[in-house]
Amino acid sequence: MLATYTLKQIDKIAEEIRTRVSIQPRISMILGSGLGTLSEAVQNPTVIPYRELSNWPVSTVEGHAGNLVIGQLEGKDVLMMNGRIHYYEGYSPQQITLPIRVLQRLGIEVLVVTNAAGGINQSFVPGNPMLITDQINLLGMAGQNPLRGPNLEEFGVRFPDMSQPYDRELGQVARKVAQELGVTLYEGVYVGLAGPSFESPAELRFLSIIGGDAVGMSTTSEVTVARHSGLRVLGISGITNKCSLDGESITSHEEVMETGQILTPKMVKLLKGILNRI
Ligand code: HPA
Repeated sequence: MLATYTLKQIDKIAEEIRTRVSIQPRISMILGSGLGTLSEAVQNPTVIPYRELSNWPVSTVEGHAGNLVIGQLEGKDVLMMNGRIHYYEGYSPQQITLPIRVLQRLGIEVLVVTNAAGGINQSFVPGNPMLITDQINLLGMAGQNPLRGPNLEEFGVRFPDMSQPYDRELGQVARKVAQELGVTLYEGVYVGLAGPSFESPAELRFLSIIGGDAVGMSTTSEVTVARHSGLRVLGISGITNKCSLDGESITSHEEVMETGQILTPKMVKLLKGILNRI
């Protein structure tokens, strides 16, 4: 039988966090690769290493630190997840999304998810962000849905609606902020895969045909669980590379990390501007 978490286990972690902070943020951000700088800008920070929290999965990937940073940014109380874990590291979708369950019990209402992604849409120039308007959880569609297993009624219904995974109002705020700041913001559908290998040209053409604009190895499980209990989600991908639909150029982790550095200031600017408005 599948290993899942009980409400008691989830509440234990929520309590471990609550005892260490005096504020109750409504907004949480998951910071993907290279966005740690945003958590460094948090004022009056309480930093909680993931390893100090019961059962909290710890990342093994370069560029993904592992701690919660709780404090103020742009005058708002926020809870930052600095670093996340991935399915390809060997964790189950249920483990990957345990933090989302904890956020829900802590009273978080808005979840901002960020990630690095490859641009399937050939008009995307790497080094620019993309507003995620919808997602294809291919991992979930292949049987690895994080909600598989006993349903915890305290969070949501057995068969949750997914008609609007990403909040339209928050998306509108992101568009407006990007326009005001003069930041290019593409829009599109994010496809979540298992990884860790990058995609073959035929796989990329398939993802393009089914409507994908960007592809990555995170996010879709977290958003599925977030929506289960009605969190409002805003998603921004940093496009780090152009996916080669004909196999004429290669994709490497180094390229992803390098372009990530170009993206960081743009993402930070955008996310701060958005935070200011929500
Ligand atoms: N494919 C999958 N995941 C990614 C990519 C990609 O091209 N770029 C960054 N994350």
